[in-house]
Amino acid sequence: MTHAVAAKGLDIGYRGADSDVIVAAGLDLTIETGAFLSILGPSGCGKSTLLRVIADLLDPIGGHLEVLGATASDARKKRQIGFVFQDATLLPWRTVRDNIELPAVVGGSNRQALAPGRTDELLSMLGLDGLDDRYPHQLSGGQRQRVAIARALIDEPKLLLMDEPFGALDEITRDRLNNELLAIWRRTGTTILFVTHSIQEAVYLGQKVMVMAANPGRVVDLHDLGDVKAADNSCSREDPEIIAAMVAMRQSLEAHP
Ligand SMILES: Nc1ncnc2c1ncn2[C@@H]1O[C@H](COP(=O)(O)OP(=O)(O)O)[C@@H](O)[C@H]1O
Ligand SMILES: [Mg+2]
Repeated sequence: MTHAVAAKGLDIGYRGADSDVIVAAGLDLTIETGAFLSILGPSGCGKSTLLRVIADLLDPIGGHLEVLGATASDARKKRQIGFVFQDATLLPWRTVRDNIELPAVVGGSNRQALAPGRTDELLSMLGLDGLDDRYPHQLSGGQRQRVAIARALIDEPKLLLMDEPFGALDEITRDRLNNELLAIWRRTGTTILFVTHSIQEAVYLGQKVMVMAANPGRVVDLHDLGDVKAADNSCSREDPEIIAAMVAMRQSLEAHP
């Protein structure tokens, strides 16, 4: 079976004219196809850098990386990777519908290449019915993030990378979007890598939670929640076992300040 992501001794960072900035060195990571992995860590530990490398937006400094059984570049060119950023990054002069369809247009194909009804299906899946003619400034923060998710899903990506997508939202909206995201994951079977600095969000969403530390960026723990969550990866935020898992994660984070 191919893994969604397989990294061995992966060094990530930024190349400079004089010297390179290594953010994290020697990362080993395997993510099973269809999994939901949360990545938790303090700011600066390299979470965004890691997602950028997996998405082929940044070259690794060294080591080995396979994405969907091929190179990250192949996966990107086949448009198998969707990316959602913290800011929705919608184009203000395009309607909701046009923003969602943007990857299909920019990707060189035309709208005929989109399955008929695909955009309507996404509008409905993300609770955006009736908002398709609005412009981004006419939406709430939560609605804008829903549009960004719909846009990331337009090509039916096998791998969805989410970089603190709900970090700027109020807690009630975030909880609602967490539930919707889980429903989308179950329905589409896409592999999700979800970066957050919220312990509660990491535990609620992920089947596993990878905990990172900074200076140098590294993986310090991998918590498997298989035993404390239901088979469909659902859980109650009030469940004592879930609360215990959150305490364990806080300890992982505090042990590596
Ligand atoms: N374009 C860049 N050039 C050089 N260093 C960068 C660049 N972007 C981020 N960094 C540095 O890389 C480290 C990791 O950043 P990042 O991956 O954004 O962390 P996180 O997402 O976990 O907060 C930080 O020290 C940051 O300053
Ligand atoms: Mg970041």
